Amino acid sequence: MKLSERFLQNDSLSPKVDYNHDLDFLGDESSFAFGVEVSKVEASKKFPQIYKFHIGDTGPKTPEPIIDVAIQALKDKQTKYAHFLGYPQVRENIAKFWTSTRGVEIKKENILLEPGGKPAIELSIQALLNKEDQIIVQNPSYPIYASLASFYTHKKPLEWTARQNETDKTLEFEVSDLEKILEENKNIKLLFLNTPQNPTGMMMSEIKLRAIAELAKKYRFMVVFDDIYDQITFDGRKHFSILSVPGMLDYTINLNGCSKNYAMTGWRIGFVVAPEWLIEIFGQLGVNKWSCVSRTNQIVAGTIFGDVDLDGFHYSCIREKIEPILQADFAEYEKKGKFLFEALSLLSPFILPNQAEGAFYLFPNIENILKLKYVSEDLQIKNDKDFSRWLLQEKGFAAIPGSDFGSGGRGYLRLSYAEDRNNHIIPGTKHLLKIIIELLEKSATNPPLSMDQLNEKIKDLEKKYFS
Ligand SMILES: Cc1ncc(COP(=O)(O)O)c(C=O)c1O
Repeated sequence: MKLSERFLQNDSLSPKVDYNHDLDFLGDESSFAFGVEVSKVEASKKFPQIYKFHIGDTGPKTPEPIIDVAIQALKDKQTKYAHFLGYPQVRENIAKFWTSTRGVEIKKENILLEPGGKPAIELSIQALLNKEDQIIVQNPSYPIYASLASFYTHKKPLEWTARQNETDKTLEFEVSDLEKILEENKNIKLLFLNTPQNPTGMMMSEIKLRAIAELAKKYRFMVVFDDIYDQITFDGRKHFSILSVPGMLDYTINLNGCSKNYAMTGWRIGFVVAPEWLIEIFGQLGVNKWSCVSRTNQIVAGTIFGDVDLDGFHYSCIREKIEPILQADFAEYEKKGKFLFEALSLLSPFILPNQAEGAFYLFPNIENILKLKYVSEDLQIKNDKDFSRWLLQEKGFAAIPGSDFGSGGRGYLRLSYAEDRNNHIIPGTKHLLKIIIELLEKSATNPPLSMDQLNEKIKDLEKKYFS
């Protein structure tokens, strides 16, 4: 529902008060609203348990050494306003880490601390967009890009839509499609690019990223490169940063932070890496919005990458302490992702998952379930949104519909495997597969497996990945 419609239904709105009609263009991040729906169903006690595959939050908790630094900083009364860009030493530590991991010289002047990684999306638009300028987003993609792009341009952004493989229904972004958009449209200022990607869990190859970098230079647009999940990659895949392409620092706004890699989503501490002149603008915008990032969070972020000295107190680098904890967390994500992929593949072609490459999402295609007679006629489920609602309300299984990430996600579900393995991922996967078998049987379609066979196969997969 448009915000204006919601306001008009609200009797308490004073007739003298009007609101910014640009709000009609603002979208949403459905994970948050969906989470509220899940809580309602949970509170109703309709099901003994809700299986949570909707959560875009990390499964593991923040590593203890990170919490210890925060407690110490608070005990040291590091509680007042802080440096508006981020303390130089903290930014220096991040810059050194970026230089060593991206293979390009990054200075502290290229870094701004912000409350989470997300603010970089709006900062980029506010700093760069003029009236006639256009924005490209991947389709499907993290919904905040399109939401803010629409809010500021008063129209849908241009969409770089993933192609669907006809056989296995996996999605792939082709650089030639992006080039076509660039050739056919004028005044393109920003491309939002995310890898490892939410919602698909796909990683973009180095070859493609190098090709996109060349396009950015040729057509002169900035890439908002969101690699907030950069350390969560599987099977020895290495994340490639577009910043590593020579000359790309001039064309990149790199959104990153502590939320996903360090299991710190609720702390709200992130950073953006960009050309110096843009950091100055972002800093001024930041002062107008949030003044500064909390001192405690700045100290914590700094110690993840190096030592921090502030106001006579010394905080030692915790990298060595947290590294084994993080590696164990990432290994657990990988096992859960592979388990889920193999388990869902048992019911192919009715559910068609993509391989787990990174982050903690799979994006299986469910079009063949939607086509089932019992589903479309008896249950009147017409699309992925209806199916997601039905799964939650009638079966206690929570997953976000693919179309919440753009039209390119129609007919898919986003499954997050961040949650606990024993309480959610293993029993929840079994629950989902049983639901699908039931739907097949009710539609007089032979399932690829019987319930008994399914139980056996899942047991085998549990052994393979978790024993
Ligand atoms: C692709 C992507 N970018 C950015 C963010 C926001 O990160 P943060 O919580 O640090 O603001 C998210 C969160 O889900 C995300 O999935």
